[in-house]
Formats: sequence, structure tokens, C-alpha cells
Amino acid sequence: MKSKASAPGKVILFGEHFVVYGVKAILCAINKRIAVTAEKIDERKISIKSNIGHLELEPNKPISEINSPLKPFYYLANKIIQDKNFGIKIDVESEIPLGVGLGSSSACCVAGAAAISNLFENNSKEEILKLAIEAEKTIFQNTSGADCTVCTFGGLMEYDKENGFSKIESEPNFHLVIANSNVEHSTESVVAGVRKFKKNNEAEFSKLCKDESHLIENVLELLKENNIRELGERVIKNQEYLERIGISNAKLREMIQTGQNSSFGAKITGAGGGGCIFALTDESNLENTIKEFKEKNHECFSVKIDFKGLDTF
Ligand code: PMV
Repeated sequence: MKSKASAPGKVILFGEHFVVYGVKAILCAINKRIAVTAEKIDERKISIKSNIGHLELEPNKPISEINSPLKPFYYLANKIIQDKNFGIKIDVESEIPLGVGLGSSSACCVAGAAAISNLFENNSKEEILKLAIEAEKTIFQNTSGADCTVCTFGGLMEYDKENGFSKIESEPNFHLVIANSNVEHSTESVVAGVRKFKKNNEAEFSKLCKDESHLIENVLELLKENNIRELGERVIKNQEYLERIGISNAKLREMIQTGQNSSFGAKITGAGGGGCIFALTDESNLENTIKEFKEKNHECFSVKIDFKGLDTF
């Protein structure tokens, strides 16, 4: 017996870093997915195959002893076969580059939670999300759950620390060209760098948080109006704030400059220090924006908003 599920990756459109200090962030599911197939097997083992490696273990190993990015799958499978007398084989296929801030681990947790648990009973998206966040905590103890939430429900979402998540009902018609710097980054250390910047520049940081909040309220209106050109101006503005708090570098700046030649605006998405940037376009400047990145030998691909979220088969 087999069960299959897929979930989209995500980008942070606006508000990264400032969200840590209470400002609203806007996230968006993207139409690049991770698909997980789970299968019951007679042998009592958990076997996981993916393009980043394999993991095969007996059930009931302490999670803390497992040192693998595939650990959330083991956690989910182990939880579900606790009182059963068979094993699970899991196969993971990804269209999302891994570990560059595009929500690959959340998409794995959401699609994994659905594929594995649906082998036994059909669960609601809310129940799958709960399981997915539990699984994600095996790798990021302090996850806000924002990425798993947007990967589960799709579309656009706003999130802030006080009020949690809510879906944004707008359906703007933009394309994002995502370019990967291929520079590794640690979200934790970039966040620590921003904390230091804040400590040394309290007044300026507080003003930047206010400006970012204002910008985001404005963005919510522009999303409703599908005003992509003006959204691009907000993208450029947000990037200026991110430059100020020190999460950019020469490589990212060069990529943003390239992205800005033809698009409406480009910025870092996620933690920065490396990872990805996106350029905002519509049909009129999509091809030229891709061409600009390719001419400078930057790895890039275009995405649209994914409105579906978790899909099960
Ligand atoms: O690197 P990502 O895409 O997971 O984004 C991190 C987002 C931050 O705002 C920098 C940190 C956080 O916990 O919100």
C-alpha cells in the first residue's frame, strides 16, 4: 500500500528579520514542490531515499542520536508505526534547492506528515500541519511554524509574533525570478548579527522597524490591487532596510543589481548572508530578467504563487 503527497516551497516576500522583533512578515508559497511517497513494508525498518542521501534504521531509535537532515521523516514514520508490526519505505523527490531559504525542510515535513499518516487514516490539513511542525522541531527547535503553515495552505500569508498567521486573500499575478547565490548561510548567525546591530543602534533599529511596518501595510494594499509596478518599489525599499541591518554582501548586491536591470525590484529573501534573492516581474519583463541573470552566470528559475498548498494522491 502506497500514499503520496506533495507540498510547495516558500519565499519570504517582505519582513524577514524585522519579524523577529514583532513586525509583520509576508510569506508566499511557490510552485516548486517536494513530493513524498510512503509505502508499508513487511520488514520492521524505516528506510528513506532522497536526492540528498539515504537513511535506513530500525524503529525506536532516540531522535537525538540521529544526525541526518532526513531525521524529520524518521520521526514521523517512527511515531506512526509505534504499535504496528511493519515498516515504512519513504521516497523523496524535490524540485526545490535545499537549504537556501526556500522552505525545503518545511515542504519535506508537510508532504512527509501527509504521505506517512495517510497510510493509515485521512487527516485534515490542520492535523497534518501539527504533525509537520512537530517533525520540523527535530531540526529547528525554535521554528515559528510560519513556513510549514504556508506550505500546507498555499497562497500568501501574513505572520506576526503577537497574532500568528492569517491568510491574505489577494491573488496578485506576478512572477518571481529566484537567483541562488550558492553561498551557504546560517540563519542563526545572521539573526545574531542583526541582534548585535540592534544593540549598537537602538534608535535607528526602532525607526527601521516602524518604517518596515508602514511599508508592509502599504504592500497589503498593493497586493489587493495587483499593482506589481508599485510593489517593485516597495521591494527596493525593503532591500535598503536589509542592507542597513547588515545582512547583505557584495555578491548579493551584485545579484540584486542584475535583477533590478529589467525587473520591478529585487531583494534578498530569508536570512541573507547568502541564500537567494528574488526579482519581481510580470509577463512583460520576465524573460529579460532571466536573461540578465543567465548572462552573469547566476543560477535562476522563475516561480508563481502556489495557491494549492498540500496535495495528496
Ligand atoms: O532563512 P529563512 O528563509 O528560513 O528565513 C529566516 C527568517 C528570519 O526572519 C531571518 C528569521 C526568523 O526566525 O524569522
